[in-house]
Amino acid sequence: MLASDGDGTTRAVILVVDDDADMRDFLKEELEREGFSVEIALGGRAGVERVKQGGIDLVVSDVKMPDLDGLDLLREIRAVEPTPHVITITAFGSIDTAIRAVKLGAFDYITKPFEIDQLLLTIRKALDERALRSEVGRLREEVARAYRFDNIIGRSPPMQEIFGLIKRLAGSTANVLITGESGTGKELVARAMHFHSPRKSRPFVAVNCAAIPDALLESDLFGYKRGAFTDARTDRPGLFVEAEGGTLFLDEIVELPLGLQPKLLRVLQEREIRPLGATKTERVDVRVIAATNRDLDVSLKQGAFREDLYYRLNVIHMKLPPLRARNEDVLPLAEHFLARAAERAGKTVRGFKEAANKILLGYGWPGNVRELQNVVERAVALAEGPIIGVEDLPPAMRERRNQDRLATAVAQGLTLGDLEREYIQRVMDAEGGNKTRAAQRLGLDRKTLYRKLEEYAAAPAPDDAEPEDSP
Ligand SMILES: Nc1ncnc2c1ncn2[C@@H]1O[C@H](COP(=O)(O)OP(=O)(O)OP(=O)(O)O)[C@@H](O)[C@H]1O
Ligand SMILES: [Mg+2]
Repeated sequence: MLASDGDGTTRAVILVVDDDADMRDFLKEELEREGFSVEIALGGRAGVERVKQGGIDLVVSDVKMPDLDGLDLLREIRAVEPTPHVITITAFGSIDTAIRAVKLGAFDYITKPFEIDQLLLTIRKALDERALRSEVGRLREEVARAYRFDNIIGRSPPMQEIFGLIKRLAGSTANVLITGESGTGKELVARAMHFHSPRKSRPFVAVNCAAIPDALLESDLFGYKRGAFTDARTDRPGLFVEAEGGTLFLDEIVELPLGLQPKLLRVLQEREIRPLGATKTERVDVRVIAATNRDLDVSLKQGAFREDLYYRLNVIHMKLPPLRARNEDVLPLAEHFLARAAERAGKTVRGFKEAANKILLGYGWPGNVRELQNVVERAVALAEGPIIGVEDLPPAMRERRNQDRLATAVAQGLTLGDLEREYIQRVMDAEGGNKTRAAQRLGLDRKTLYRKLEEYAAAPAPDDAEPEDSP
């Protein structure tokens, strides 16, 4: 972008586009005298090509040129990112052209004949404005970075809390239990914990307890010795051994058969396994992260899950809130999935139309983040232009927009408190965070609104992620 000056300072690069040799030489000399780095293009076409190559901070262009005039140049370089500012030089008396240039996006215009100081002043203004713009871009990027942890996106307080927890636990090997509805990111968080732990260079092994038949689960987890059963022709190490030194992710832990639960408990307590058919135990060093999308309280009450095992696993409990309870994450997540899908598909899709955003925000996301990801990937595949519109969203979602919101809430099993909270948040957003206006719209006095917002901030989600001590 900016040419290095050898002494560590940088100089703005200005491209002078003019078919008139005298004018070009004059401008080059004057601008270089002012310390700018100057490049020359002999006409509009050459100018556009040069801008496309990048590295130009500002264009000073004549309007009347034989091959491609200054207005066409403006039209064509608008597609270049980031677009350099253009100062157009128009002939005396052609104010119409000047206005058209500005309408086409020129930063400003100068009328011939002009004093060089007048041009320099305009150049400085343009460069200042551009520096400011890139500063805003940088700040925006910084904010975006704060909303992510690795590839986990979340600006909502409960997700920020999760990020903090992952960071704080980076050095720990304590067992972790992750709960949350399907598609809330349990496995993603488990992986992030592993890759921020001292075990990161060792394996992360994921096992879905629901996917392996009960009869095989024991030998899969703990391994077996030759002759342990008819087909056991050789020793086979289990997943605990495979994960040695690393992390074993036990997904859908509630599906672990009751008969196996004491065996897992023993591993967690003694750090030893006994493969099937083995006479001796073997030491293992494995961190266990367990997850479930089911209500563990129910399984505990029904006796389907042992309490002692629960306490062992639940040294640290992370609760991932459903997406509908963190609406402020929806658009950042959508943008994230859009960028990824567009890149993978090699398509230029840059964003969502306002109406599409509204639908995304108004939807209940029963399938949580996974559903959102699928919806966005589908939309990117369907999109015909650079912006995703309502027509690119699944028909069912579009219809739901007109559907009774309360019917959806009933289907989702929201409590009155959930609904109130969501509504207040929505109105706050609609009023741009202005509490006075939001309170008016909600029919609340300001104090009551403040109190409620404080309560929400103190308890970010229905169930907050909090480290819990083992008994
Ligand atoms: N906060 C997030 N940021 C970015 N991607 C996410 C986030 N949460 C979930 N995802 C993505 O959504 C998908 C589902 O996440 P994941 O598999 O971790 O969910 P899960 O809670 O394990 O679901 P299940 O209970 O169905 O197994 C994955 O593709 C994951 O990368
Ligand atoms: Mg999962």
